[in-house]
Amino acid sequence: MINLKNSENSYKPLLKWAGGKRWLVPIIKNIYVNYRNYRFVEPFCGGLSITLGINPDIALLNDINKHLINFYNYVKNGLIINLNMRNDKDTYYNYRDRFNGLIKNNNDNTGEAAQLFYYLNHTDYNGLCRFNSSGLFNVPCGKYKNINYKYDFSEYKDIMKDWEFVNKDFSELNLNHNDFLYVDPPYDVEFTKYSKEDFSWDDQVRLIKWLNNLKNPIIISNQATPRIIELYKQYNYKIEFKDVPRFINSDKNKRGNVKEIIGIKNIEWFL
Ligand SMILES: C[S@@+](CC[C@H](N)C(=O)[O-])C[C@H]1O[C@@H](n2cnc3c(N)ncnc32)[C@H](O)[C@@H]1O
Repeated sequence: MINLKNSENSYKPLLKWAGGKRWLVPIIKNIYVNYRNYRFVEPFCGGLSITLGINPDIALLNDINKHLINFYNYVKNGLIINLNMRNDKDTYYNYRDRFNGLIKNNNDNTGEAAQLFYYLNHTDYNGLCRFNSSGLFNVPCGKYKNINYKYDFSEYKDIMKDWEFVNKDFSELNLNHNDFLYVDPPYDVEFTKYSKEDFSWDDQVRLIKWLNNLKNPIIISNQATPRIIELYKQYNYKIEFKDVPRFINSDKNKRGNVKEIIGIKNIEWFL
């Protein structure tokens, strides 16, 4: 039995994450309000900004990054962080070594790994999440003056009660006819290294073909490159464009506005 929540409540992302989409929350909320009894599905949940912003009753949330999903699974169980989180280099590199030790020993699905992942995400350079070819976390320490660390995630036990977190390639998800999809793949640009695996142009096409087999309501977003615009048009998405600020980029010159595309399919009306 699912308890319906107060859908007015909206929550902020718990992590810094490249490609965060908080600006899209009001737009998706406006549409999803008509599908409130549908399961909210994110095949690329990342920083979870949309699901936390929408706060659906039931959700299926997937990402290929296993450390991210491990963290959310502990948050869902009311994670309490008992690490001494300090914004200094010695602590950072010590905890980064400890996290990589857990990865090497296949202990990266533990509560300790979830705590370290949260600490590294908040303390590292630009909130990046990057691994070397052996799967070890290799982002240097950030340069923040102050960091507001959160220690107690117990309120999320209730918020995430009926949210399922999974760690797969998007194409392995089991969907049903009552699913509403928000699809936010890595941008079609040079910076697509979110985890060990890259998301290539072939993956962008593979995704659109996979979605094409579904009759579910779908909202997709991406960077509006000419080939993405053409692809989404070819597969009959209704499209809109929006200029949005980009915050995470290691190259200061590449910060600035990005033209985003929003594609909508199998939804009767649009905005
Ligand atoms: C643009 S981000 C999603 C950002 C998210 N919407 C937010 O607001 O924070 C894309 C995500 O796709 C994930 N990803 C990359 N390749 C994937 C794949 N083949 N299957 C599932 N997830 C994948 C990355 O780990 C990354 O978290």
